[in-house]
Amino acid sequence: MAKLVYIDACVRENDSRTRRIAEPIIKALGERYEISTFRLPEMNLEPLSPAAYAERAVKIVPEWAAEAARTIAEADRIVIAAPFWDMSFPSVLKVFFEQTSLFGITFDSDDKACYGLCKCKKVLYITTRGMDIPTGDPREQGTPYIKALSTLWNLGELETIAATNMDYSTPEEIEAKVSGCIAEGLEIARDF
Ligand SMILES: Cc1cc2nc3c(=O)[nH]c(=O)nc-3n(C[C@H](O)[C@H](O)[C@H](O)COP(=O)(O)O)c2cc1C
Repeated sequence: MAKLVYIDACVRENDSRTRRIAEPIIKALGERYEISTFRLPEMNLEPLSPAAYAERAVKIVPEWAAEAARTIAEADRIVIAAPFWDMSFPSVLKVFFEQTSLFGITFDSDDKACYGLCKCKKVLYITTRGMDIPTGDPREQGTPYIKALSTLWNLGELETIAATNMDYSTPEEIEAKVSGCIAEGLEIARDF
């Protein structure tokens, strides 16, 4: 069975509208993929400290990070669920990328440039935004960041599903947006 990595950065956990959109899409993808889930809010992630940085320089990395990086490198598809925070995504996701961006696992370099070691062909990024900011707007820095990381790690094409203006919508409008994004995601999941 092909492999899919699901990265859940929904800090509001079961209150998260982003997670509500992602879960049925992941369930549908589970019929065709073996899924490895990383629930970042439960992982007590910490940014690279001076001590950890010094260890990395002599090729010592935490075993969980090497293992997560290997799982990512071997995945055929990646799904990221992350709310829109401070014009991009929660820092726990950046910390996860920082910890798993490892020479010799997710990427490498020769004497000229860096190149990705991942085999993933498609990434699906699911988000909800409080303000009325569409994907591709210069104020939206989640999609461009993940696209850039995709070029470093070799993750293939990125598709973003986004519900917007969530903090200025009625409960009925929010429900309609969540349902619309689930339908969009299930459609994408058919040939993802
Ligand atoms: C800490 C924090 C930071 C946020 N920053 C932004 C922001 O910069 N721009 C924006 O449009 N909405 C922002 N929001 C609103 C969220 O994007 C919005 O409520 C989203 O639907 C939350 O997703 P969730 O229900 O999955 O947690 C922020 C919310 C929180 C809690």
